[in-house]
Amino acid sequence: MSVLDHLLCPLDQHPLSWVGNSLLCPQGHSFDRARSGYVNLLPVQHKHSRDPGDSKEMVAARREFLNGGSYRPIADALWTGVHAHFSSSQPMTVFDAGCGEGYYLDHLVSGLREAGYTVAAQGLDISKWAVTAASKRNSEIGWIVGSNAALPTPAARFDLLLCLFGYPVFSEFARVLKPDGLLLMADAGPDHLIELRRVLYPEIHPYRDHHAGVIDGFEPLEEQVVRFEFELTSGAAIGQLLAMTPHLHKAPFAGREAAQALERIRLTADVRLRSYRLCG
Ligand SMILES: C[S@@+](CC[C@H](N)C(=O)[O-])C[C@H]1O[C@@H](n2cnc3c(N)ncnc32)[C@H](O)[C@@H]1O
Repeated sequence: MSVLDHLLCPLDQHPLSWVGNSLLCPQGHSFDRARSGYVNLLPVQHKHSRDPGDSKEMVAARREFLNGGSYRPIADALWTGVHAHFSSSQPMTVFDAGCGEGYYLDHLVSGLREAGYTVAAQGLDISKWAVTAASKRNSEIGWIVGSNAALPTPAARFDLLLCLFGYPVFSEFARVLKPDGLLLMADAGPDHLIELRRVLYPEIHPYRDHHAGVIDGFEPLEEQVVRFEFELTSGAAIGQLLAMTPHLHKAPFAGREAAQALERIRLTADVRLRSYRLCG
């Protein structure tokens, strides 16, 4: 069985099946597997730009930064949260919507497998650069270029859906989760990277919590604050962190210059990890 099974044609939603190195739908639409193993199910007509999602440079910066281990406590908290909800006696299906270059899904799936779980996992991102990097990280996960706006996945397929620092489309998440399925979201809290933001911006805007309210179709279960400090001790590492955030484009020139001149900074990570159950 392939890690890229149970997919739907993004053009007509018919089931796709493998013929050699291509996924084919009964209407004749065909999608080739890339050399690194992922499949691109984002048709040109669903793209809003020529190169949607995170750029090659942002993906490279995120991969280097995450590989450095500074956000490992977030990955560990995710694993602990998932372990608390699922039993290793049942096989589980996991989907990461907006998986980036795959750091968190790889960490989670590796941890689950080490703990004796049977896991079938897929990660999807709209950035082909992100998915290319992800497919080099772990070939036992199915990696897909696609959009959260129209997941190429049958209804009621997944036990667990992750949306980490991403762009949720709750109607799609509700469609692809099994009844009773779990949604786990990670988002920045009010103090996230506050020390860097103070360097970047003349004024810190009040915190806007985008997902604090009721989410249609989901019952909130738990909220965990993952808060810790870490230190970056080189201009290169600070540059990578900056390049993987929207601040690189949003912050004023003077702020970016000041941040780029830093050689060392102590930072606060403040992340909200929230879980929701799909309502029946
Ligand atoms: C802040 S990054 C987070 C990546 C990853 N979840 C992580 O935490 O490392 C947001 C990701 O969402 C992707 N993205 C943006 N719009 C998307 C969409 N409509 N569907 C799927 N992914 C999307 C970007 O390409 C990017 O990789």
